[in-house]
Amino acid sequence: MLDINFGCPVKKVALKGAGAGVLRDIDLMVRLTAAVVKSTSLPVTVKTRLGWDDQTKNIEEVAERLQDVGIKALAIHGRTRTQMYKGEADWTLIGKVKNNPRIQIPIFGNGDIDSPEKAVEYRNRYGVDGIMIGRAAIGYPWIFNEIKHYISTGTHLSPPTIEDRIAVCRKHLQQSVSWKGPVVGINEMRRHYANYLKGLPNIKEFRNKLVTLKTEEEINAVLDEMAVIYAGHQFEKTPIELINYHENCPVN
Ligand SMILES: Cc1cc2nc3c(=O)[nH]c(=O)nc-3n(C[C@H](O)[C@H](O)[C@H](O)COP(=O)(O)O)c2cc1C
Repeated sequence: MLDINFGCPVKKVALKGAGAGVLRDIDLMVRLTAAVVKSTSLPVTVKTRLGWDDQTKNIEEVAERLQDVGIKALAIHGRTRTQMYKGEADWTLIGKVKNNPRIQIPIFGNGDIDSPEKAVEYRNRYGVDGIMIGRAAIGYPWIFNEIKHYISTGTHLSPPTIEDRIAVCRKHLQQSVSWKGPVVGINEMRRHYANYLKGLPNIKEFRNKLVTLKTEEEINAVLDEMAVIYAGHQFEKTPIELINYHENCPVN
């Protein structure tokens, strides 16, 4: 499938008319989408926001018009572009789009979901076909299985162990390096260690090492050391922090 990004709110993207910037010109958005749909045999989907600002929350019109030009699903983040990540995501308009009898395509809701309970509550309240999760998955990709498990059984999956966390952190590092090369790959990985290791006691010293080391081998050696020291350790349950990412949205 091909998912069009009409959602990125970052200044250097949106203010040059890309990402959520396209929400300022709905005719253009529809023309662009129609052209993409026409040019590929892949299913085309769109991710966007409620509108550009409080005065132009036109997602209901956008949903109908994009459906009419052939998109196969629409993911909606419950904030406008000017809101960036401020306040709480407003899912009421997402629910309205989903419950519009003219809308036949799947509608995915997005914004502030950070637990299995909230996922189920919002899915039931707004009737969406799916939920998209961003920030809560950063350093905690287990959230997806936790939600699936909770939906199918009503019970909670056991949390990841230190071994699970270190294994995923290692894989992330390895993929970051193979995707971006050793310098950028290792640099970009630095922001993630704290998330993978959140809830472990006295990790400051290890974290400081992890964010200064320059090779994958050295970092893996520290992770090996941590696996031994923290073996069998339970993570303290810490609430997932949904921080404001707007200046860090990767645009390359
Ligand atoms: C690092 C990062 C990059 C993102 N890049 C985009 C993007 O390019 N396009 C987009 O529509 N949303 C982007 N988002 C926003 C997310 O898709 C999502 O709408 C937003 O984080 C709200 O969902 P959440 O509360 O589950 O995090 C990005 C979010 C993060 C954290």
